[in-house]
Amino acid sequence: MIAAVNGSPVGITGLGVHVPERVFTNKDLEQFVDTTDEWIVERTGIRERRFAAPHEALTDIARPAALAALEDAGALPHEIDLIVCATVTPDMMFPTSSALLADELGMPDAAAYDLLAGCTGFVYAVAQAYGMVAGGLAKKALVVGGDVLSKILDWEDRSTLVLFGDGAGAVVVERVAAGGFLGFELGADGGGGEHLWLPGSGSRAFEDPDSFVKMNGREVFKFATRVMVSSGQAILDECGRTVDEVDVYVPHQANKRIIDHAARKLGIPEEKVVVNVDRYGNTSSGSIPLALADAAADGRLREGELVLMTGMGAGLTWGSALIEWTEGGVR
Ligand SMILES: CC(C)(COP(=O)(O)OP(=O)(O)OC[C@H]1O[C@@H](n2cnc3c(N)ncnc32)[C@H](O)[C@@H]1OP(=O)(O)O)[C@@H](O)C(=O)NCCC(=O)NCCS
Repeated sequence: MIAAVNGSPVGITGLGVHVPERVFTNKDLEQFVDTTDEWIVERTGIRERRFAAPHEALTDIARPAALAALEDAGALPHEIDLIVCATVTPDMMFPTSSALLADELGMPDAAAYDLLAGCTGFVYAVAQAYGMVAGGLAKKALVVGGDVLSKILDWEDRSTLVLFGDGAGAVVVERVAAGGFLGFELGADGGGGEHLWLPGSGSRAFEDPDSFVKMNGREVFKFATRVMVSSGQAILDECGRTVDEVDVYVPHQANKRIIDHAARKLGIPEEKVVVNVDRYGNTSSGSIPLALADAAADGRLREGELVLMTGMGAGLTWGSALIEWTEGGVR
């Protein structure tokens, strides 16, 4: 699906993030798998990541992010009439994490549901919130993107353990005076789904609970380098914008080599590219909001700037959102 959007402007008015306390450096992972700091840095750019404590689940990490986003937007919890939580690691399948968060945060009038689109979840969820607000179904939406992938990683599999981390972000989506979302491009290829999958996680194999992530890194790498470029370019073309107009590029933080490739092919200079994969690894649905928060913190995300976000991940899925930033800053 691809569309340049029009009508009343809808944008992001608040942003908040949260990561667990525990830091695991590459060196720390050497005690679990046969790897080295040198290998991980050279092949991925990752230096450390956060892992949740044994008692922490998704909503424990998402709650502080949601509260910070509400505060940043100057919104009260009871004003939220839609909460979408993008995650592949909900506290449990049901009640959904969005319903739990709505209850804990005090959002009695909110429609609440979780959304499964792998690491692209945040972009998909933002597109849905845009549609609901633009269509008049919701006035103030809270989009949460977050994952605790450490819970579904095989701590004996070096090909996946070193890549991922835990974290969450949240944004408030509502009507704005001007600017806001310009368009979305979203896609999926279930045929490639077997390259990044969680085989024992649903009704196909409940009797065989193989509940760890499995990945064919080389295939995912090829897919990622292709769609990060094609999706970003497609949404710019659809919206009649050029790559030179992009002020801030926020790619999914999976691997520095994938980010560098996409930026180079698109023609986006390094200073416009947000990179924090070195500090957090791949936090799945938390990745793009965590990167947005870094851009806000270092002063790059300002009113009126053109921001291109592109995600990709399990499904296989991909998605881009183009937005004229309406409010920056994480309080
Ligand atoms: C996983 C990834 C970093 C591997 O990098 P790569 O350069 O393709 O490396 P390869 O898979 O070719 O493996 C090279 C060697 O390193 C080894 N290796 C794999 N993981 C290792 C690790 N953590 N430490 C040390 N060696 C490792 C492999 O076993 C292989 O050894 P071999 O040549 O003896 O078989 C890369 O393919 C990638 O980033 N893929 C995309 C993954 C992704 O982004 N997933 C999430 C999407 S949301």
